[in-house]
Amino acid sequence: MKILENISLKKYNTFGIDVTAKRFISIKSVYELQQLLKIEKELFLISGGSNMLLTKDINKLVVHIDIKGISIDNEDDSFVNLTVNAGENWHEFVLWCVDSNYGGLENLSLIPGNVGTCPIQNIGAYGVEVKDTITKVEALEVASGKLVTFSNEDCKFGYRNSIFKNEVKGNYIVTSVSFKLTKKQHHLNSSYGAIEVALAENNITQPSLKDISNAVIAIRKSKLPDPKEIGNSGSFFKNPVILETHFLKLQKKYPKIPFYPVVASAKVKALDKEAQVKVPAGWLIEKLGFKGKRYGSYGVHEKQALVLVNYSNASGIEIYELAKKIQREVHTTFKIALEIEVNVIQ
Ligand code: EPU
Repeated sequence: MKILENISLKKYNTFGIDVTAKRFISIKSVYELQQLLKIEKELFLISGGSNMLLTKDINKLVVHIDIKGISIDNEDDSFVNLTVNAGENWHEFVLWCVDSNYGGLENLSLIPGNVGTCPIQNIGAYGVEVKDTITKVEALEVASGKLVTFSNEDCKFGYRNSIFKNEVKGNYIVTSVSFKLTKKQHHLNSSYGAIEVALAENNITQPSLKDISNAVIAIRKSKLPDPKEIGNSGSFFKNPVILETHFLKLQKKYPKIPFYPVVASAKVKALDKEAQVKVPAGWLIEKLGFKGKRYGSYGVHEKQALVLVNYSNASGIEIYELAKKIQREVHTTFKIALEIEVNVIQ
C-alpha cells in the first residue's frame, strides 16, 4: 500500500475530466482496505469511474478499488453461483460469462465501469436490470471496517437506484457482488425492439447468449460514444416518470412523444393511485434542439441526446452548467423535472 501524491484522475473517470487527487492509493484486497480504514475514514472512492462527473480537485484520500478475482461458489446442471470482486471490469466479466455459457447478463454487455458499482445504481439496459441476477453484495462498513452482507432484498433495488444511493450512502464500500446465472434454459430477453431488428438482420431465429451479446454491443456502438474515444458517463439523466394526466396533456401537443407505462393499469386501479408514465429524457432533450450541439470542447452526443460528452479538455463545471441549462429548458417547456443520474462531485 503506497500513498501517491498529486495524481491526475483523468484516466480514472470515463468523462476524462482532468482534476487532481492530492493523495491517491490503489487497493488490491479487502485486507488492505481494512488496514486503511483503521487509519483513515475520510475517503473518496473511485472504481471504474463511469458514473461520476468530477468538478474539482479532490482533497480527501482517493482510493482506487482494484480488488480482482472471480470465484464459483457452487453450481449444478442448471445454475451457477459466482462471486466477483469489485475491481473486475464489468464488460470483461459479462463476456467471460457469455463465453462460459452462463446466462443472465448478456443484455448488459459493453456497459462501462466495474463490478463493484453495478449494484449501486442497479445498471440496466435493453430490458434487463442487474438486480435480476444479484444474490448478495458484500461491503465493508467504513465506521467499523467489518464485512457486511446485503441480500438482494436488503439492497432495495429500483430503477437506477439502491440502498447504496440512499439510506446507507457513503457508509459502505462494496467489495464483491454475487450472481446466480443460468447454465441451460436461459431466459433470453430479445424483445427490445433494436435487439429484434439486429437479430433479424443476421437471420438469427434461435439466438444464443453470444448472439444477444453481439447484438447489444452493435446497438450500443451505433448509439453511444465509446469513453475511450469521447469522454462520457452514459445517460446523464434518468428517464422521468410523470403522472398520466400530465402525460396526456403533453401527448396532445406532441402526438409522437414516446412513453412506457410504469405499472400495469389494473394494479394502479387496485391501489387507487394515479397511473404514471415514463418518458425518454433523450426525446425531450432532442426536441429542444440540444442533440449533437457542441460548445467548444463539450456538448450533447449526436446520436443519443441523453449523453453529455467531453470532446477534449472540458471542465466538470462546464458540463454541469450545460446539464443545468438542459434541466431548466426541459422544465420550462415540458414542466418536467429531469433528475441527474450521474454522481456530480462538487
Ligand atoms: N430518443 C430520442 N432521442 C434521443 C434518444 C432517445 O428521441 O436522442 C427516444 C428513442 O427514439 C426511443 C426512446 O427515446 O423512442 C428510448 O431510447 P433508447 O432506446 O436509446 O433508450 P433510453 O431510454 O434513451 C435507456 C437507458 C440506457 C440504456 C437504454 C437501452 C436510462 C437513463 N438510460 O436509454 O442506459 O442503454 O435505455 O436499454 O434509463 C445508461 O444508463 O448509461 C444507459 C446508457
